Amino acid sequence: MTAPSAPMTQDELKTLVGQAALQYVRPGEVVGVGTGSTVNKFIDALASIKDQIAGAVSSSEASTQRLQALGIPVLDANSVASLGVYIDGADEIDGQGYMIKGGGAALTREKIVAALATQFVCIADASKLVQTLGAFPLPVEVIPMAAAQITRRFAGLGGHAQLRMKDGQPLVTDNGQHILDVHGLKITDPLAFESEVNQWPGVVTVGVFAHQKAQVCLLGTAEGVRTLTY
Ligand code: 5RP
Repeated sequence: MTAPSAPMTQDELKTLVGQAALQYVRPGEVVGVGTGSTVNKFIDALASIKDQIAGAVSSSEASTQRLQALGIPVLDANSVASLGVYIDGADEIDGQGYMIKGGGAALTREKIVAALATQFVCIADASKLVQTLGAFPLPVEVIPMAAAQITRRFAGLGGHAQLRMKDGQPLVTDNGQHILDVHGLKITDPLAFESEVNQWPGVVTVGVFAHQKAQVCLLGTAEGVRTLTY
């Protein structure tokens, strides 16, 4: 009798979906690459087919460093008119492919690269799948001088915004801005919410990805990779 195998760790599930995402990369193309620990697994897998792709457009300095260290050319987003696919993780994803992103503070560039792509493939472990967005504190990249007024606006919606800190100082994004993490929201209409918050003065990017939602989610589960399509 063989002993039952141990359940996969979250890290192993991330590796599984990172490798599964390779099937969406077409030979000869430039690939859009997100940011985070799950995407790092994808970047590692992408290195195994680096000779078959034209390169990558990256969504953060961290992903750029990892791509280049593995010998994958990184192209300027301004040098490509479109991308076939963008592969990225999420902090939450719901049943319609709407997401919260920005846990790694890369949301602005992630949205820019996602907007270039025909298809957004989200890679995530099963803990990220939710009914309603908002239990994960919503990241919002803001111009520093607008942080207090944006905090008051979120309070009006029942949210509590906190300035994200790093080493005792406000975290500074790749774009030189700050991040507010908003607790206590229940985002029942992600499209309308994203549209509204986007037009508040001083908001650079809100971490709701509804207009740039996922078309596919590769979800790492105890039973293997589940493919959700939207
Ligand atoms: C970074 C992101 C990431 O995709 C999100 O935070 C998920 O990260 P991880 O794969 O490490 O759980 O939006 O800004």
